Amino acid sequence: MAAILVLNGPNLNLLGSREPGIYGNTRLADIELNLRTQAAMASQSIDTFQSNHEGELVERVHNAINEGTRYIIINPAAFTHTSVALRDALLAVGIPFVEVHLSNVHSREAFRQHSYLSDKAIGVITGLGPLGYELALEYVLRQLAADNK
Ligand code: DQA
Repeated sequence: MAAILVLNGPNLNLLGSREPGIYGNTRLADIELNLRTQAAMASQSIDTFQSNHEGELVERVHNAINEGTRYIIINPAAFTHTSVALRDALLAVGIPFVEVHLSNVHSREAFRQHSYLSDKAIGVITGLGPLGYELALEYVLRQLAADNK
């Protein structure tokens, strides 16, 4: 069982070809592979899940509670700005989470500057591209190491 779940929301399956000027050229599969390697180096493993459907993400969060997930790293994509359901799901399971965005949402359209998740996240990393996921994972790996002491 993986202690860490990495969730990605809608349209992130298109990373690599989707608006590369904003989101870069790295594919989601490559981001996930890097994270797997990074976790393995710390003797941890990750589960990954991407969906374009809000309900599937909500259900994946629900399932995490039965799978021993200790931390969630989530890029909710557009659901960041719309989804009370995803917020409620994360609060319902009570699993601590880090929110990640590839782009700097605060330098973009006004509607991207509100997140339904940020006030409940441990922290938010926005604008650092794929490195944001790595930094979030580094934080989680350190926390797990500290928790297990
Ligand atoms: C995003 C930012 C969101 O505003 C947008 O809807 C996305 C991706 C990011 O990673 O920069 O799909 O979460």
